[in-house]
Parts: sequence; C-alpha cells; structure tokens
Amino acid sequence: MPVRDILRMGHPILRGRSSEVDDPTTATIAGLRQDMEDTLVPINSCGIAAPQIGIPLRVVLYRIPPDRIPAGARTQPVPWTLMVNPVITPLGPETSEIWERCLSLPGLYGRVPRHRRVGVRFHGLDGKLVEREATGFHAMILQHECDHLDGVLYPMRMTDMTQLSFASEMNLAGGFFKYQPQDFD
Ligand code: NI
Repeated sequence: MPVRDILRMGHPILRGRSSEVDDPTTATIAGLRQDMEDTLVPINSCGIAAPQIGIPLRVVLYRIPPDRIPAGARTQPVPWTLMVNPVITPLGPETSEIWERCLSLPGLYGRVPRHRRVGVRFHGLDGKLVEREATGFHAMILQHECDHLDGVLYPMRMTDMTQLSFASEMNLAGGFFKYQPQDFD
C-alpha cells in the first residue's frame, strides 16, 4: 500500500470543491482509506483529506491517539475513523482559538478561530450513517479536515495573521507552545 505524495498550498486540487462519493462501500474507497492511513502513519499525523493526496472526493481519515491528549484533559482518544461525505453542524455559538498545522503547509502553525462544539454526520466504509459530537481539539480536526473538501486551508480562517508562524521559530521544544487540557475539552 503506497505512501502518497501530499499536495501543498497552491495546488489547484486544494482550492477546489471535492465531489460527493456515490457509494462508500466500493473497493476504490477502501483502497483510498488504506493509502491515507499509510501516508499518515510514518509522519505520525492525526488527519488527512483525500484532496491532499490528489483525489478530489469528500473523504477524510482521522484519529486522536492517546499520546496527543494532554494530561488532565477529559477528551477520549479517537480510533481511526473514515468519514465519507461528512457534514458538520456547529452546536452553539461558542468559538475558541486553537493552534493548527496542516500537511499541505509544512513547517507552519497558525492560530485559528473554530466552533468549540460541532456535530458531524458521515458514512463509513460499510455505508452506515454515523453521527458524532466533538469539542475542542477534536472539533477543530473535524472542521479543519472538512474545510479541505471545500478548498479551504486554515490560513483562510485566520483573523490575525501575526499568528501564522514557522514551528522552528516558535521554539516548540522550549515549551513556547504546548496544548493545554482546556484546548482539548
Ligand atoms: Ni490540513
């Protein structure tokens, strides 16, 4: 199963609207899911949208591994989840800002306002409809990945561009930026 090249900001596929999948249960979608996982695992990343590997379909794969959750957060880990034709609905008016990064903008972090609580409906590989609610970091991942399906990258959501930064300059190892439990809950 191949690791796929990841498109970077500027590629036309990342700017376009991806198409709905007619049938989530085909071998094509199963193969796409495997390629997305194979691409994420070596780089230890949480999520990817199909257009990022050049496939303009409304498909997202994500997870939240236990080791990404700061001590003290109430958020539970999320196993690998394939979302076909996901639709997000904000739950409540509350927003919060959270640091994001994106495989299509390597080396950068940006602070992005997001809905704090969202619902998502999607189909799985078995064709069943799934509904899920999420808050904090989990809600951010859902919004970030689903934005890719509409040609939106996180800098397009930022309201303060002074908060777009190279990770190497933010001295991550020195603890300048670290997710707090409240970013996740
Ligand atoms: Ni991204």
